[in-house]
Amino acid sequence: MKKLIAGNWKMNGSLEANAPLVQALLMDASGWACDVAVCVPPVYLAQVQALVHGNRLNLGAQDVSTHEAGAFTGEVSAAMLKDFAVRYCIVGHSERRHYHQESDATVALKAQRALAAGITPIVCVGETLAQREAGLTEEVVKRQLAAVVHTNGHCISEIVLAYEPVWAVGTGNTASPQQAQQVHHVLRTQLQAASQHADRVRILYGGSMNASNAAGLLAQPDIDGGLIGGAALQAAAFLSIVAAAG
Ligand code: 13P
Repeated sequence: MKKLIAGNWKMNGSLEANAPLVQALLMDASGWACDVAVCVPPVYLAQVQALVHGNRLNLGAQDVSTHEAGAFTGEVSAAMLKDFAVRYCIVGHSERRHYHQESDATVALKAQRALAAGITPIVCVGETLAQREAGLTEEVVKRQLAAVVHTNGHCISEIVLAYEPVWAVGTGNTASPQQAQQVHHVLRTQLQAASQHADRVRILYGGSMNASNAAGLLAQPDIDGGLIGGAALQAAAFLSIVAAAG
């Protein structure tokens, strides 16, 4: 299956910095063998939409409201994202689960809102270091995925899933290819039990993925791409991950 490399800019960027970054990515686009996306802060959607228009770089968002519309100050709806031709939307990133107390049920509802608007949710799951050390990794990721399966039923094959061990996010401690593959296999098996089309769900790895470790991770049978934080802010680093996915 075609791999997906998605950059998660998190709360980084500026009008001034975004343009050369996106332009450098676009210069390389004709050689891409995989799908590529950048998930940008909502205030930059219009800017990046204009830059990528008609090109192979897909636009993504980092979050979406659980509500459709109305009196929800500060929230951004799935329909609003769709207005800007957003193709992917990260939901349930560990930073949102942690800093904004997003529950499994909230994340599942966000995935549902995205799907209903024709946006592919990139659903993040992953265990903390304490959970891994307590031997709870499988239990945690299965519980997180189960909520999304429960709420989204047959549509589950339309999602992208991302395994992001919390202890690997922004720390420089990448999961080894074997550690990641083990969890991806658990997730694949769970998807297979929920849908006949589970084999077309892309399961991305995220957490300190960079130019030097990407190839080993992406060679694993159940690793179908990457969700890239820090390395997505530099064109050269991001493009070498894209090349490793080719
Ligand atoms: P880093 O690549 O900076 O570890 O971030 C990963 C991530 O959280 C992507 O969503």
